[in-house]
Amino acid sequence: MLNKIGLIGGGNIGGVLLQEIVRRKLAREIGFVDPAPMAGPNDTDAQKAQKAKQTVSGGKALDVLEGLPTVGLDARIVASKDYSALEGAEMIINTAGVPRKPKADGSLPSREELLSINLMVTKFVAEGIKQYAPDAIIISIANPLDAIVYTLMKTLAPNPAKLIGMAGVLDSARYCYFVAEAANVSVENVNAMVLGGHGDDMVPVRSSARIAGIPVEQFVDADTLAKIETRTRKAGGEVVSLLGTGSAFVSPAWSALEMAEAIIYDKRKIMPASVYLDGEYGVNGLFVGVPVILGKNGVEQIIELDLTEDERAAFAKSVAAVRSTCDEVEKMLG
Ligand code: LAC
Repeated sequence: MLNKIGLIGGGNIGGVLLQEIVRRKLAREIGFVDPAPMAGPNDTDAQKAQKAKQTVSGGKALDVLEGLPTVGLDARIVASKDYSALEGAEMIINTAGVPRKPKADGSLPSREELLSINLMVTKFVAEGIKQYAPDAIIISIANPLDAIVYTLMKTLAPNPAKLIGMAGVLDSARYCYFVAEAANVSVENVNAMVLGGHGDDMVPVRSSARIAGIPVEQFVDADTLAKIETRTRKAGGEVVSLLGTGSAFVSPAWSALEMAEAIIYDKRKIMPASVYLDGEYGVNGLFVGVPVILGKNGVEQIIELDLTEDERAAFAKSVAAVRSTCDEVEKMLG
C-alpha cells in the first residue's frame, strides 16, 4: 500500500480508477484532480456562478466515500479542481484529456487527431506534477498515448524509469481476449503481447503468443489469427463506434492498475509498456511499447525480444508513426 496516489482526470477512466484503488486498498489517500466544470467564454454570469460551485472530482469522490460503509472499507480522498490535491503523491495516474468520439459523419478520428487539444491539457498536468509531486512514478493513459508521454518527458524531464505509458497492457489484453475466444479456452491460458505505438500500426507479436505455453498456431489457424490481429489494431475504435459517446474506460483502467500493482508490490512483472528507448530496439529518444519489468523503481529493465523479420518491419512502421506525432509535439511546444 502506498501513502498516496494522485489521479488526474475525473472522466470515465478516472472514475473507474478511483473505485478500484479504494477497493484494492492500493493507497491510504487518493488525491483526485479535475478542473471540470470550467466556465466557457459564452457562459452567462449565472452559469459561471453555478459552475464555480460544481466539482466533478468532488462529486465522484463523495459518491465513493458515501458507499464505503456498504463495502466495509475506509479511505481518504482529497478531491479538487486544482493540482494541490496531488501534494505528496508517490504515484500519479494521468488520464487528463478528451477521448475519441465518432465525428458527425460517423467516421472515427484517429488518436493522433486529439494531439493539439490534449497537448494543451498535458502542459497543465506537467506543471501540476512538477509543483506537487515531482518525484512520483507516473503512469499516463491520455491519448495520443506515446506522444503525450513524450510531452511529459519534455516538459517534466523526470527520471525516465519513472515515466511509463499505459497502452501495451490494454492492447495485449484485447489480443489475448480475442485469441481465447477463438480457441475457446480460458483467458488465463493465453499469453501474448502487442508492441509498438498505441495506434493503428501497433504490432501483435504472434511469434511469442502462447496458449498454456504451446504456440498459438496449434489452436487457432493463420487466417483467423490474421483477422484477430487486424481487429486488435482497431479494437479501441471498435468500442468508440459502439459507444458513440467516448472511448473504452474499464479495460484501460484495469490495465493501468495491473501496472500500478506491479510497481506498488515490487512484483517485477513483465508486461509491455510505452517507455523511453535509448538505443533499445534501434530506437532513440522516443516512448514506444516494448516488454519491460515493472517493479518498485518503475521500469526496472527493458527486455529485447527476438522478432521475426515481418514483425521487425511492422515495429519499424509503428515507430515511424510515433516519431511523426512526436515531431508535431516538438513543433507545438516550440
Ligand atoms: C483505447 C483508448 C483508451 O484504446 O486509447 O481504447
